[in-house]
Amino acid sequence: MVVGAQRGDEGKVKVVDLLAHKLRHVARFQGGNNAGHTLVVNGVKTILHLIPSGILQAGCVNVIGNGVVVDPGVLVHEIDGLVANGVRVDPERLVVSTEAHVILPWHKALDVARERAAGAGKIGTTGRGIGPAYEDKVGRRGLRVADLLDTAALARHVEQGVAEANRCLVRDYGAEPLVGEAVLGELIALAVRLRPYARSTVRMLHDAVRARTGILFEGAQGTFLDVDHGTSPFVTSSNTVAGGACAGSGVGPTAIDEVVGIAKAYCTRVGSGPVPTELTDALGERLRAVGHEYGATTGRPRRCGWFDAAMVQHAAMVNGLTGIALTKLDVLSGMGELRVGVGYEGLDGVPAGAAALEAARPIYEVLPGWDEDLTGVSSWDALPVNARRYVERIEALTGVPVVLVGTGAGRDEVIVRGGVFAG
Ligand code: IMP
Repeated sequence: MVVGAQRGDEGKVKVVDLLAHKLRHVARFQGGNNAGHTLVVNGVKTILHLIPSGILQAGCVNVIGNGVVVDPGVLVHEIDGLVANGVRVDPERLVVSTEAHVILPWHKALDVARERAAGAGKIGTTGRGIGPAYEDKVGRRGLRVADLLDTAALARHVEQGVAEANRCLVRDYGAEPLVGEAVLGELIALAVRLRPYARSTVRMLHDAVRARTGILFEGAQGTFLDVDHGTSPFVTSSNTVAGGACAGSGVGPTAIDEVVGIAKAYCTRVGSGPVPTELTDALGERLRAVGHEYGATTGRPRRCGWFDAAMVQHAAMVNGLTGIALTKLDVLSGMGELRVGVGYEGLDGVPAGAAALEAARPIYEVLPGWDEDLTGVSSWDALPVNARRYVERIEALTGVPVVLVGTGAGRDEVIVRGGVFAG
């Protein structure tokens, strides 16, 4: 399993891409098209929002599990885009759980309207309707993929859903109402496109567990965006931690062998919420420029800061990490002395919730930096001694071995140190 150990955008997809050829299935288990996975393969950049990144590996079956929220328009668009780029996408390579919930047009309208109304207090969502879709799921009034394929059930759902959403959109937010017939027409057309891919995925994944052909669970977002364990309320609406993979796929915890946490060698954040180690000066600007830190889904500039080891240590705990893949080490070249957050003044561990974290003052350890360009370095011994020290210090502070180090955007720009990546 691969999960984000920080606040999303850790570079999970590159790690998934490295592992995918070793396993038959790649499964997503939470989130939706709020994720934006940028992949560079053979120099070509591809951004995936919903389809697991195993789709770029010829032998992989890609599963959108029951815990994902699926925007049917986005999924069809993503399939068409991949096919246009010569990628084979068919029901043997892509499967969508009939139990997954559907993001409907009013979820997106409500997400955007609420954020607008919240003004400065907004969460900074991606505006993709994620929160409202999960609200309907947990409220037991959502629409599942199976219902999308049943035109009579869909028509009833749309009639009621549009009427309710319009009351709220028009009365509470002064937004434009949705037109029921247009919404229904669009969804029926999308259902026709998605029908071949939809099936119950639980049995299929269990067969893979039994046959030991391997499943790679691909987490989206990161630990501190988890609805339970993140910096509430500045979180997404799903369980991004490792435990979420079981509920979101129907595979039990005893089947999971390894949990790799992906952490960037510094930290970033899109959207609102406290970032204790944030750099709002020229160094932060430099990280953003050198690391190309702009959201893959919304294009928003990411807030950048020093590596927060206290947070990653917390992530190690709540995810049961067996290894860390440390990405983008190359971005830290030429930064002068480096700082690593090792805790917060007067606090034991990471405070829960946004208000407490906002007030927390990080304690830093200063480490010597390096000037050498690390781009593409693929052996541990070829790293400057201070870069090795930096990685080893992160291991010591988090208590988890760094099994992979990223040194560039390309698939081969990594240093393999062990764990699931070796062999
Ligand atoms: P939502 O998931 O669109 O509701 O957004 C909630 C919060 O999660 C916001 O702060 C978003 O910026 C953040 N978020 C959602 N998806 C991602 C992601 O894939 N990477 C980083 N941040 C994300």
